[in-house]
Amino acid sequence: MCKEVLDLIALALWFILPAYVANGTPVVLGGGAPIDGGRRFTDGRPIFGAGKTIRGFGAGLIAGSLVGVLQGVITGQCIYAMLGLLLALGALVGDLLGSFIKRRLNISRGGAAPGLDQLCFIVLALLFASPLMLPSWEVILTILIITPPIHLATNFGGYKLGWKSKPY
Ligand code: CTP
Ligand code: MG
Repeated sequence: MCKEVLDLIALALWFILPAYVANGTPVVLGGGAPIDGGRRFTDGRPIFGAGKTIRGFGAGLIAGSLVGVLQGVITGQCIYAMLGLLLALGALVGDLLGSFIKRRLNISRGGAAPGLDQLCFIVLALLFASPLMLPSWEVILTILIITPPIHLATNFGGYKLGWKSKPY
């Protein structure tokens, strides 16, 4: 039983790794010009906000895709390179969507939106990957269960290291 759970967690981490790396890289390498160019939506609030930058998006896409390439080299299966690109792109678009929803809910940049912050990027990553390949439903469920605590723990680590201004 215990081994089965550990196997599921290992499979989940292996599959979703490009999305995690794409989501985490902007915290370290992001900054500069915002994707929305500082423009506002029809409600008068920022479209995405200053926390979503072009450099962060680009760095996340490159880093997440590189993980996929590495997985392809390790396994000898080039599908992982394509999968890495889709997972990374989906994670970054999902992160943008999360910020878009937060701004519509009048939650300002950096404000917490429990659930949305931890899961929007992962759901979109899975959605983007789905035309190419999805793991079993058990692995998908495992990804959805382990991501919120991992997201919270890595964010707290980033805060302690001085990379992030908020611990969540
Ligand atoms: N970041 C970036 N570009 C992105 C995503 C993130 O530069 N596309 C950087 C920003 O410095 C951001 C930090 O990573 O502040 C943390 O990301 P996140 O928590 O997603 O952004 P928040 O600042 O919390 O903004 P929001 O409320 O919109 O989620
Ligand atoms: Mg945040």
